[in-house]
Amino acid sequence: MHVNLRNLDDTERLAARVAVRALAGDFIGLSGPLGAGKTAFARAFLMAMAARQRVPAPAEVPSPTFTLVQSYQLGAIEVAHYDLYRINSPEEAAELGLDEAHARGIVLVEWPERLGDRLPRDRLDIALSVDATEQRQATLTTHGTWRTRAL
Ligand SMILES: Nc1ncnc2c1ncn2[C@@H]1O[C@H](COP(=O)(O)OP(=O)(O)O)[C@@H](O)[C@H]1O
Ligand SMILES: [Mg+2]
Repeated sequence: MHVNLRNLDDTERLAARVAVRALAGDFIGLSGPLGAGKTAFARAFLMAMAARQRVPAPAEVPSPTFTLVQSYQLGAIEVAHYDLYRINSPEEAAELGLDEAHARGIVLVEWPERLGDRLPRDRLDIALSVDATEQRQATLTTHGTWRTRAL
């Protein structure tokens, strides 16, 4: 599924649509080059999830560029936001607690391709792109059990 993201409102709308469907145990990969909007999507997703859980929105959603992971407890659901750009091997993601976070809640993962063959089979991939004229697009691809879920 392709979605044009003409502005941040469109990104927020798409993130809210995904957040309504997301469940504990879900892996959502956010791919695309630097500046494509991966962190912006994650931020919008967390805001939408807080609203859905009827809890206050996180005061801030910093990019996990340096911390590599930021975790949020939103009511009954935990969301862990990873940025794997700086890891050197898939094993480093395991050291960052990715498998446990995935087992407990939802994981949003920027640069999921860094996981190599540790990439989960059941996942939603959201590929973000921005072209030379600043046109942004998201391409959603479902894998494994996600294929039978409505988006
Ligand atoms: N439609 C849009 N969707 C997402 N981000 C947008 C959009 N339009 C402009 N932006 C801006 O583009 C930038 C994307 O940066 P960021 O989300 O940090 O990218 P990434 O995490 O992919 O490197 C942000 O400054 C954001 O405000
Ligand atoms: Mg980012």
